[in-house]
Amino acid sequence: MAIEKVAVAGCGLMGSGIAQVSAQAGFPTVVREVNEALLEKGLKSIEKNLDRLVEKGSLSAADRDAARGRLKGTTRIEDLAGADIVVEAIIEKLEAKREFWSVLEPLCKPHTIFASNTSSLSITEMAFATKRPQRFVGMHFFNPVPVMKLVEVIRTIATDDAAFEEAYAFGQRLGKTAVKATDRTGFIVNRLLLPFLLDSIRAVEEGLASIEDIDNSMKLGCGHPMGPLTLLDFVGHDTTYYIANIMFEEFKEKRFAPPPLLKRMVLAGWNGRKSGRGFYDYSDPKNPKPMKLV
Ligand code: CAA
Repeated sequence: MAIEKVAVAGCGLMGSGIAQVSAQAGFPTVVREVNEALLEKGLKSIEKNLDRLVEKGSLSAADRDAARGRLKGTTRIEDLAGADIVVEAIIEKLEAKREFWSVLEPLCKPHTIFASNTSSLSITEMAFATKRPQRFVGMHFFNPVPVMKLVEVIRTIATDDAAFEEAYAFGQRLGKTAVKATDRTGFIVNRLLLPFLLDSIRAVEEGLASIEDIDNSMKLGCGHPMGPLTLLDFVGHDTTYYIANIMFEEFKEKRFAPPPLLKRMVLAGWNGRKSGRGFYDYSDPKNPKPMKLV
């Protein structure tokens, strides 16, 4: 059964990006936040992104208006009920997600696919908190969603082939390259990315090189769009610390253990770009200055 109507739960950084690409791909899309203030903030950021695309000439004003017209914001969970797929991008806490799915479940049609955008929580655990584990998948997008071309589509031992293929095809219809993964903590990208990012923090702790030289090495020596310390500031240290703890708990391997410097920065609230400080000081956002941390 092809997906025609889309619902997105959460209109934060990830949810707003997912809702934007869904509306741009031609799907009538309902996006829900828990209150009006958060909803308005999310919808404004989508409008700003669409306007920027028009200013740059990569989207026509008519296509922007059509995409905006396909997008409906709501604070009512009932408004998600008519969708063929619900993509959940709410707070990264298992209890909150389980609560969300359990309230939504009885409102939705039996064929509706449930997809979580979690980066590190167990899809299996969430799936079995609903009555439709066979139609439950992970769909993990990357920040910034409108720019990053990948979506990881994750199946559990209970996901049926039809639901998985529908979700996979939906990922492609959003204009993404979809990859298939099984439900193992961190999936593909974070399984490989986390140890690399955490090692770059260990390199700072050990005094291997300066913050700028570590970043420049990976940018210019390996062609990465951002150095690892800049990327950590971009992702947010609280988020990375949270993911690393879950992965360490799962695999009990040192490469996933959060380094002490990361913990100290989280305790200090120096969570990166969004909090004004991380490995760089963003007082002048266009010209970040490396911090003195060790
Ligand atoms: N929303 C929409 N578009 C954005 C954007 C945003 N937040 N930020 C940048 N862009 C667009 C710009 O408008 C620009 O578009 P054009 O090329 O059409 O002009 C393009 O992206 C490039 O932007 P900039 O020129 O401003 O800057 P840049 O070249 O440094 O690119 C970047 C910015 C796309 C973020 C790039 O640095 C990059 O790819 N960085 C790596 C990001 C990454 O690794 N993300 C994954 C994080 S891990 C994750 O999300 C998963 C997890 O579980 C933690």
